[in-house]
Amino acid sequence: MSESTGTKKTSRKFSIPSGQNSLIDWIGSLGSEDIGVDIGTSNIVLFIKHKGLVFPEASVIAKNQLTGEYFAYGTKAEEMEGKTPPEIHISHPMKESAIVDYNGTAYLLNSIVNQSYLKGMFFHPRLMMCVPTGINSVQRRALLEAAVAIGARKTVLIDQPLAAVMGMGLETHQKEGTMIVDMGGGSTKISVLSRQGIVVSHFSTESGNAMDMAVLNTVRDKYHIRIGQKEAESLKIALGASWDLDRAPRVAETSGLSIVSGLPVKIAVTSEDIANAINPILYKIFTHIRDVLQRTPPALLASIRESGIMMIGGASQLRGMDELISKIIGVSAHVADRPSYVNAVGAGSALNYINDFRDSLQDLH
Ligand SMILES: Nc1ncnc2c1ncn2[C@@H]1O[C@H](COP(=O)(O)OP(=O)(O)OP(=O)(O)O)[C@@H](O)[C@H]1O
Ligand SMILES: [Mg+2]
Repeated sequence: MSESTGTKKTSRKFSIPSGQNSLIDWIGSLGSEDIGVDIGTSNIVLFIKHKGLVFPEASVIAKNQLTGEYFAYGTKAEEMEGKTPPEIHISHPMKESAIVDYNGTAYLLNSIVNQSYLKGMFFHPRLMMCVPTGINSVQRRALLEAAVAIGARKTVLIDQPLAAVMGMGLETHQKEGTMIVDMGGGSTKISVLSRQGIVVSHFSTESGNAMDMAVLNTVRDKYHIRIGQKEAESLKIALGASWDLDRAPRVAETSGLSIVSGLPVKIAVTSEDIANAINPILYKIFTHIRDVLQRTPPALLASIRESGIMMIGGASQLRGMDELISKIIGVSAHVADRPSYVNAVGAGSALNYINDFRDSLQDLH
């Protein structure tokens, strides 16, 4: 189900290239807002820096297959899931943290920027967009084209871990090494940064969504009841990852369809059931963390041990996750404040330097 793309060892400098402001840039900056953007598999988050506003939306779109038109996005589209006539298609334009539907992604971004309460706020904005470390040029182009489609004046792509350290306000220049684990809906990204940039990184598709599917399958196999992904997600959030810490028998109620009778039923699912479902995924993530630590230059390890592993992404909020990582890995772990917003907020902070970066579109050619 989930596969690892393996560990990449990258040594990349976080240098800020010098650039010149064009007249267009100067004119455009009058009355316009710059936006930090993080497009994820589950959520898209915009951060409007000068106003300090965060806009999260579900990364979901609705399309009418007969007319070929998109007509809803975000939570509104998500709520339609499972309730639409056959010609209506509800989909996620991102899968496993990669764009799988280019037009859908552009529609999603465009709709959010132009939604009623943001309307008029942007006049050809400049965007700082987060990207997973090491994404290929096809994916970079897809993101940049989505930005062009909304009339962005300039777009700069920033590696997610670099945005994350800015978003958490970490003083990386004072630390030798920092480890960030981003557990999102579509993937888990593990990165080690030094003062010079990203030193080791790892990407895998063990993720919040994979956990939901595992919960869904466990409930089907054990109780012979079919539940939806939303119900599975609620069970995962309610019962978390703490079974391995305290063996406390907690229960949460859910409803689904009996496979035997076809009728709606309610059942109580236990924290042990959830642990059985999600532990194989969690323990793979722990193995990846250990693997990355083993590949980390010794000169950075002491500092990581001292400050602990920084956890971001929605799935890092699983109950007991930080404690479990500390116990299994032997290095303390801390979950960031509002962990799903950190990347977008960090991209927003990086906008301070946007004049010094080249437009990422220029780097594609
Ligand atoms: N309180 C919570 N406890 C556990 N998991 C949670 C909680 N809140 C959200 N999640 C999970 O977090 C995941 C979404 O996280 P996030 O918004 O960081 O993903 P994303 O950035 O859209 O995806 P990705 O970066 O992987 O492409 C979902 O799987 C969701 O179920
Ligand atoms: Mg994410």
